[in-house]
Amino acid sequence: MTAETIDQYAVFGCPIKHSKSPSIHAAFACQTDQTLDYNAVEVAPEDFEKAVTEFFTAGGKGLNITVPFKERAWAMAKGRSSAAELSGAANTLCMNEQGILFADNTDGVGMLRDITANLGGTIRGKKVLLVGAGGAAKGVLPSLLLEQPSEIWIVNRTQSKAQQLADSVSGPVYACSFADLAEKKFDWVINGTSVGLQGGVPPLPASIIANTTCCYDMVYGTGDTAFQKWAKQNGAQLAHDGLGMLVEQAAESFAIWRGIAPKTQAIIAKLRRDLAA
Ligand code: ATR
Repeated sequence: MTAETIDQYAVFGCPIKHSKSPSIHAAFACQTDQTLDYNAVEVAPEDFEKAVTEFFTAGGKGLNITVPFKERAWAMAKGRSSAAELSGAANTLCMNEQGILFADNTDGVGMLRDITANLGGTIRGKKVLLVGAGGAAKGVLPSLLLEQPSEIWIVNRTQSKAQQLADSVSGPVYACSFADLAEKKFDWVINGTSVGLQGGVPPLPASIIANTTCCYDMVYGTGDTAFQKWAKQNGAQLAHDGLGMLVEQAAESFAIWRGIAPKTQAIIAKLRRDLAA
């Protein structure tokens, strides 16, 4: 098999240097006995659409899309899964059988699989607080709703964006301000803000946490994230990061492209060990 005949995949983002996606997909390919190439490509913001078009014109099989291009990938697509359609952002692109650029969003499925299958958590019938109303929060909202929580509250620094996001879906989804949270408690608190990237936490009152509350951060770091530390300090039952979500969303992309679902447990465990080392 020559380089030209090996199926080509990539993740496009900016920055992309620290992406774990190439090693995750290499592990999936090895485990499922598939031959493919998967590269991380830093794309200049002004070149995104051109780079996507060139990739598929050259015969590329599939792309993952990460920050800051998920909305632009969604806009380029001519066909979309319902998860992508509802979230307004895409992290997975491929050409479908009709030669149409097709977008999916596997972030929500990835997070829900981590919460339910890996952590043994339940969203059904539970009261959920989704913190943030940017791309990350938008991406997971449709999948959260499918799990049939009793209520989803969305809180965001810019409250109008929380309201817009709540209005974009049908179901028991409400927007509120950080101040409104003083009177409420939640079964799940899911952090989809980017505050943690600067080591901060969103301005959440500690009173939202009961000893049965589970907290989930969509990002991960070498140790506990700032939000995980906050959750533990305030007595949450569970405080988890988004490493499992990263691997699960990748597994779902891999399944869309290759028609085979890789096992994720050992790969999550290895990444966890590598991060701790
Ligand atoms: P992403 O694609 O990672 O979600 P984004 O679309 O820029 O990135 O969204 C970032 C989210 O983090 C938003 O909900 C943002 O709140 P605003 O909509 O008010 O900007 C939130 N965020 C970022 N910095 C924050 C801060 N210092 N305090 C509170 N929220 C913050």
